[in-house]
Amino acid sequence: MTVAIVRSTTAGLAAAALLGLGLSAPAAAQDAAAPAAQTQAAAKPRIVIIGTGGTIAGAGASSVNTGDYDSAKVAVDKIIAAVPEIKQVADVKGEQIFQIGSESFNDERLLKLAKRVSELAKQPDVDAVMITHGTDTIEETAYFLNLTLKTEKPVVVIGAMRPGTALSADGPLNLYNAAVVAASPEAKGKGVLVVMNDEIHSARDVTKSNALKVETFESLYGPLGVVVESKPYFYRLPARPHTTATEFDIDGIDSLPKVDVFYAHVSMDPKALGALAGLGGKALIYAGTGNGSVADYMEAPLTEVRKSALVVRATRTGSGMVVRNGEERDDEQDWVTAADQSPQKARLLTSLALTKTSDPKVLQEMFWKY
Ligand code: SIN
Repeated sequence: MTVAIVRSTTAGLAAAALLGLGLSAPAAAQDAAAPAAQTQAAAKPRIVIIGTGGTIAGAGASSVNTGDYDSAKVAVDKIIAAVPEIKQVADVKGEQIFQIGSESFNDERLLKLAKRVSELAKQPDVDAVMITHGTDTIEETAYFLNLTLKTEKPVVVIGAMRPGTALSADGPLNLYNAAVVAASPEAKGKGVLVVMNDEIHSARDVTKSNALKVETFESLYGPLGVVVESKPYFYRLPARPHTTATEFDIDGIDSLPKVDVFYAHVSMDPKALGALAGLGGKALIYAGTGNGSVADYMEAPLTEVRKSALVVRATRTGSGMVVRNGEERDDEQDWVTAADQSPQKARLLTSLALTKTSDPKVLQEMFWKY
């Protein structure tokens, strides 16, 4: 990996260059290169682990409390210290940025975290960044970073479904596996990754699918790979643009355009939609039933919302693509559809898009692209 080259001595590089030309290095250069080669072999990637809270930092009253516990209690340095095996794969350093349950993330905190990760990724003495995070909104943070960070360095977000005090706590192995992935050359340039339960997920596709199970994380099209016995095995590549290939940049941005989500259900109150739209959002994600369908009695209220904000139809089903037009007449209504993105990820993409444009056609293209 690049790290090894950065850490090479001049003598080592000279010897390597000679060998590359098919010439044998002079004995003195070989001697000088030998200790350098040993240093290279021993040099471990340097990873900063940012702590934000969540269940991975949680503590219960008893070892059998797997669902009844307080999250965001244990400092990131203590979480790292509990997994000494991590030192075999990387030189790690902890940094506490928040100590919160991930349900309390908001745009300000997302921006603060993204800016810190971005700063760290620019440092030559940092090879990768990991973030410990609550699982409830891990997919949103990871997706936001995936769209905004300008780095090829591995960025891995992890959490746990059981607090460290519980029998069969999953946090320690998740942390170790995440370090294995973050330290691997294969993780470079693959966008932001979420490593949970021995699986490597792309931030774009991953979602929490169950409130309690350890195997809660699923990706729309399957994980990118797995971690087995301290080795990452990648089987797929993210097909959609991320990190360095997106047009989004948080440098110089101090707040994000307000975008809200309205959840559809049987017997909605149109006044609730009007009240939400009245809060000044620049766009509204309508998490409709099935194909993002709009109830007959919600069509006029949604047409009204479009007069002051963009309207994006998503589906509340958890997967599948929202098909444009048909019954919903999106072209006529000037509505956008969220393609296969969940309402919560559609909110993030829309908010970032609004930093660039308020044209619904351009936003629609972004949904097809990202
Ligand atoms: C949270 O998201 O902060 C709590 C739940 C969890 O981390 O699993």
